[in-house]
Amino acid sequence: MCGIIGYSGHRPAVPVIIEGLRRLEYRGYDSAGVAFVQNRELSIIRAPGKLRELEKKLECVNVSIATSGMGHTRWATHGLPNETNAHPHRDGDQRIAVVHNGIIENYLELRERLGAKGHTFVTQTDTETIPHLIAEGLKEQGDLFHALGWALAQLEGAYAVVVVSAEEPGVVYGARKSSPLVMGTGTGENFIASDIPAFLPYTRDVVFLEDGELVRIDANSWQVFDAATLAPVKKTVQHISWDVQAAQKGGFKHFMLKEIFEQPRVVADCLAGRVDRCSSAVRLPELDGMAIPERLHIVACGTSFHAGLWGKLLLETWAQVPVSVEIASEFRYRSPLVGGRDAVLAISQSGETADTLAGLRLMKERGVPVIGLCNVVGSSIAREADRVVYTQAGPEISVASTKAMCSQLTALAVLALHWGEARGVLGAETRARAVAELCSLPDLLDGALPAMRERAAELAREYSEAASFLYLGRGHCYPLALEGALKLKEISYIHAEGYAAGEMKHGPIALIDPRFPTFALALDDELLPKVVSNLQEVQARHGRILALTNEGARVTADDVWNIPRAWGPLAAFPALPALQLFAYEMADYLGKDVDQPRNLAKSVTVE
Ligand code: AGP
Repeated sequence: MCGIIGYSGHRPAVPVIIEGLRRLEYRGYDSAGVAFVQNRELSIIRAPGKLRELEKKLECVNVSIATSGMGHTRWATHGLPNETNAHPHRDGDQRIAVVHNGIIENYLELRERLGAKGHTFVTQTDTETIPHLIAEGLKEQGDLFHALGWALAQLEGAYAVVVVSAEEPGVVYGARKSSPLVMGTGTGENFIASDIPAFLPYTRDVVFLEDGELVRIDANSWQVFDAATLAPVKKTVQHISWDVQAAQKGGFKHFMLKEIFEQPRVVADCLAGRVDRCSSAVRLPELDGMAIPERLHIVACGTSFHAGLWGKLLLETWAQVPVSVEIASEFRYRSPLVGGRDAVLAISQSGETADTLAGLRLMKERGVPVIGLCNVVGSSIAREADRVVYTQAGPEISVASTKAMCSQLTALAVLALHWGEARGVLGAETRARAVAELCSLPDLLDGALPAMRERAAELAREYSEAASFLYLGRGHCYPLALEGALKLKEISYIHAEGYAAGEMKHGPIALIDPRFPTFALALDDELLPKVVSNLQEVQARHGRILALTNEGARVTADDVWNIPRAWGPLAAFPALPALQLFAYEMADYLGKDVDQPRNLAKSVTVE
């Protein structure tokens, strides 16, 4: 996620802005920039890479007079991480500068419309559309405030924007819709930022902005407006007692917990611009012109491998493309039979996992088309793949992967719909239902997560004595069982095995006893009767069972954990955070280092 800070006050603005961006570095970024107004001139300085690159450029610029401005650290979603695409972006006359966090879904249409009016664009970003739109608004509305309101009304998608202009020195505007933005008010100075840490050393007095609100600050005043009507909105100032560390986690105790709770947003961001709820249209322009493979080989590691296993079921059901899913470290050394009209899908959050990258390179040598499914823009796998689909989950700080898997499942569902429609094998009704259900997931998850966490905490305490766990699941719950076991063992250090429930009698049943609990994914689907009979075998041997299921499902267990229903295979979306939260609460209860578990690295860049 990008980092934003706007400032207007009595201090030299640029040092305050740079320090604020430094406090937002934890959000991850690959380029940075500042904009400030002095002598009624708008200056914009940007640099790829880390803040020190930007500071080197600023050493050559006199910035001592400016007492208002803004800064941005960019987490690339559209366009590579380079100086051209770095924020702030400006209009053609360089009178207006904008920084942005989010995704403007209708930016292509806006660019066409503005281009027809003579606007020319120099970047690949969706953001650059905004200053040009505001400049167009200035012509019609006459002043920046009204021009901004006019422009915001035309944006579709998610945004947190901050705007400065040579038209109004000392004034900084901000507005938000679905992306975070918060205001800090001090003495003789005011701030607008993506997150509180950016200005915490200067003030703890905060005004939280809501979607659809527009804020105007200068050194001595602030005012919030309704962005649609431009009517003033009354807001209260809240005093924050967090320290910087807690603030960087958004008040959550750990990054992992924060990232679990970001999953509703992650689904929405991954769907943005790719599905249209009204028309049920599905699009993946990244794959335009690429032949749909006769056979797809998914190659990945760890959690990404589990996502691939889940995606196989959808790709074979909705798109009827035969799929194999392989652990990259096995795939790369067995001289796989891949060729003809096959393709490879390399799934990797970091885009740097050595074995997955090696599998990609092996296939490239053979001329097999490779698609990357990555989260980190510009990563090795993203760059070396023939095509790349970004999951747009934002940086995942915690070593244990949570929101990244949620975004991978979302992207795989979109891919299955996209190919199914293109191959003419997916009925319009199924596609419409799938799109509607996917679009309803953010609200479903938002509503479910708080209670899910409470139940996870209760159960974690109940089972905290366990030395080992068996996770069982069937069908699309089998990959989830593997993932649940991985999450538990990697952060709580409790041994856990994920198994296909139907495999229990082929060995693991020998382990069942009262000290060896079973975590059963017993969701109310067509395979539930089979899972129930597996659980009866566990109960007959006095094994304890924790069953993750749905209200009303006929499941008997020592502990029943009901989670919300979701349609068909999308039932994975409420189940996944439950598994993640159970592992999280267990690890936290046992006092483990949740975000940095022993022996683990966030990206395994060596074999
Ligand atoms: C999952 O919690 C682990 N951090 C690990 O299994 C991870 O999923 C695996 O190393 C693959 O990483 P990647 O997605 O960045 O390729």
